[in-house]
Amino acid sequence: MEFMLNKKVKSIVLAAGKGTRMKSELPKVLHSIFDKPLLGYVMDSVNKLDYIDENFIIVGHEAEKVEEFVKKNYENAKCIMQCPQLGTGDAVSKAVPFLKDFDGYVIVLCGDTPLITSETIKNFIEFHDNNHADLTVMSAIFENPKNYGRIIRDKNNKFIAIVEEKDALPQQKAVKEINAGIYCINWKIVSTAFNSLQNNNAQGEYYLTDIVKWAVSKNLNVQSYILDNNEEIFGINSKADLAEAVKILNKKSLIKLMNEGVQITDLNSTFISPETTIGADTVILPNVYITGKNIIGKNCKIGPFSHIRNGAVIGNNVRIGNFVEIKKSVIKDNTNVSHLSYIGDSELGSHVNIGAGTITANYNPISKIKSKTIIKDGANTGSNSVLVAPVTVNEMASVAAGSVITKDVESYSLAVTRPPLRIIQDWVKRKIEQLSGGIK
Ligand code: UD1
Ligand code: CA
Repeated sequence: MEFMLNKKVKSIVLAAGKGTRMKSELPKVLHSIFDKPLLGYVMDSVNKLDYIDENFIIVGHEAEKVEEFVKKNYENAKCIMQCPQLGTGDAVSKAVPFLKDFDGYVIVLCGDTPLITSETIKNFIEFHDNNHADLTVMSAIFENPKNYGRIIRDKNNKFIAIVEEKDALPQQKAVKEINAGIYCINWKIVSTAFNSLQNNNAQGEYYLTDIVKWAVSKNLNVQSYILDNNEEIFGINSKADLAEAVKILNKKSLIKLMNEGVQITDLNSTFISPETTIGADTVILPNVYITGKNIIGKNCKIGPFSHIRNGAVIGNNVRIGNFVEIKKSVIKDNTNVSHLSYIGDSELGSHVNIGAGTITANYNPISKIKSKTIIKDGANTGSNSVLVAPVTVNEMASVAAGSVITKDVESYSLAVTRPPLRIIQDWVKRKIEQLSGGIK
């Protein structure tokens, strides 16, 4: 049965910071893992919970770029400008005018923690709801809590404040329970705190974390929700963190696929995006990179050294071999693309055989238009053939090796553009004789 919450839920995602340590012109939240920006991961996890009907993204640094990404992908999200960026408390306060009469829960997340799952967000909101809390903070126990805000408790173990590392006393720095930066707020009651935040701290910023002290002083119900899986709140601050996040996400994706019956030969050299589904008994050989959203069937053999780039829909018993790149293409059952080929914006039927070095020329760099190649059931292409899109090779047709195909090929026909073969007898012999004559 669907769990019913006592109140409505909206979200605020913080994404205004520069991310100085990324050393990049690109805003931090637009850095990608498997071709999806960090902010996209957070937004997708939030969006999976259909009771969250509205999202506010706080933007600032390179706001136009972030806004463009949000507009293109999330229709229920609104960007709010924070300029200058005076701290996380200042960031959330920018949403106050947009949530004036809202009497529900607001969940606050950071755009730079891409590993957070919708299950965790759901459990967190339900915990808040079940406890009739006014404010719940997600926390975790870290062996090395460096750089995180610390969860401070009184002698009765009551959660009373969050202290940032830069403001912490030595005994506070020793605390291993940290603030994950994810909050659930009873908006009507707690949003009044934003009028009274101060910036008299080590960083001269308005800290969102100070709402804890405020809520405790008002005798409100303040809770912490301790997360078991620390990986989920891993925040990205540098390119090294980004690589670490790829590793964590990839490992999770590979384990899930193996549990579903996919055979993966080498976990260290295989990268498969979490948005790719693969059928049972498909074998993935080493050095395969699969990014974006793809559907791959059962009993296929992929790799070694294959690159599937997004938007592939591949049937059962398909062979994708070495040095083959597939992009935005449908490939039906029992078809082989075994060596050195590029298949882009294409539809391949079943029992098609693609010869080594076949290229679908899908892009016209002058018009900048991409066109489709269609190869129907039972057709085949010879080695080193180029199919200049838009073009169709019909059922059972054959393309001769080395041909450049610019017109549709009828069923059961052979298309060949090869110049006639000439054999010039003794040509080499004569060359040798000429050369040795010259030297004398
Ligand atoms: C924050 C928390 C800290 C917590 C940590 C978890 C505060 C004061 N501290 O610290 O307790 O342990 O997150 O990762 O909140 N941002 C804005 N506008 C601003 C400042 C920041 O939108 O003016 C955004 C950033 O883009 C980022 C997020 O807020 O996505 C967090 O900011 P950051 O500066 O990284 O905070 P931390 O120092 O990590
Ligand atoms: Ca951070």
